[in-house]
Amino acid sequence: MTYSVEWIDDHIRLLDQRLLPKQERYLDLFSSDEVAAAIRDMTVRGAPAIGVAAAYAVVLAARSAPHADVREAVGNAITSLSQTRPTAVNLFAALQRMQRVLSSCPSEDLIKSLTVEAVRIHEEEIASSERISELGASLIPGGATVLTHCNAGMIATAAHGTALGAIVEAHRQGKIERAIATETRPLLQGARLTVWELVREGVATTLITDSMVGHFMRTDRIDCVMVGADRIAANGDVANKIGTYSIAVLAKAHRIPFYVAAPSSTIDLSLRNGDTIEIEQRDVSEITTIAGTEVADAGATVWNPAFDVTPHQLVTAIVTEHGILMTPLRRGLRMLAGQTGGRRK
Ligand code: MRU
Repeated sequence: MTYSVEWIDDHIRLLDQRLLPKQERYLDLFSSDEVAAAIRDMTVRGAPAIGVAAAYAVVLAARSAPHADVREAVGNAITSLSQTRPTAVNLFAALQRMQRVLSSCPSEDLIKSLTVEAVRIHEEEIASSERISELGASLIPGGATVLTHCNAGMIATAAHGTALGAIVEAHRQGKIERAIATETRPLLQGARLTVWELVREGVATTLITDSMVGHFMRTDRIDCVMVGADRIAANGDVANKIGTYSIAVLAKAHRIPFYVAAPSSTIDLSLRNGDTIEIEQRDVSEITTIAGTEVADAGATVWNPAFDVTPHQLVTAIVTEHGILMTPLRRGLRMLAGQTGGRRK
């Protein structure tokens, strides 16, 4: 298993996901500011992995502050980490938990209590992704061709993966004939990361461009789509990597089940629907350059939203660590919140 986020004694070790698949390089980070920069520039990415990294970053802030200033340093770190990436709610869920420790714990116990909470967040994500992989695999029929988008694998979750974890688990059960990975423009998480993970796991993998999905749904056999999520609203609307919505529309048109696999830390019951999910707008250079080379005339306006929202009507089921939620998703999500004390306003 490759861990994208690890806590080692007094610092965080991150797998530099920007360099994959060419280089497997790890960075040792000792300050909260370094981790915030790593989240922003996508050294670490994927909703659950971002949450885990942010929690450890808060611990780093506490450890490096002079004793008298520790509370202020932790508060500042939480504020600055919350401004790194807006869409994945796991980041805010993790920071909220760290904030609760800050508010309730005496200064002399703060570092220890923050460390315990960060490790707990990490362990919960590991356990969730393992369970999601098992449950997700149960939805995949024997001899299946499964399409996935972006990367919801072990490096996105700090453990087993969610959507990709389900595909890998189904492969271990002998059920996968082929996994199809979309390249996932503009940063190529599919081509660079998902293909890397699937091939290492021995899954027969085919890479296609994002614009080929409709063609293959019409001309080939695709049994289901399995994707991750960055935020799920109370009605089941799902924010995920840009392009997910188009795939869901195509899946509906071709009567292909569209599954979303995500831990409960991705569910945001404070939002009635997906319309108010903040969509991260990233630098236009991600679109206008390929491998450092300018490919577009500078005269055009460029739009680069990193995520889109798939309306709940297009989602066949949501797989969480607590079970598989079928439609109506709103009822299932509300019941799940009752069990887990899920995030609400
Ligand atoms: O911009 P990214 O690479 O962080 O976006 C990641 C995704 O959209 C993933 O599908 C999502 O975070 C789920 S990861 C288990």
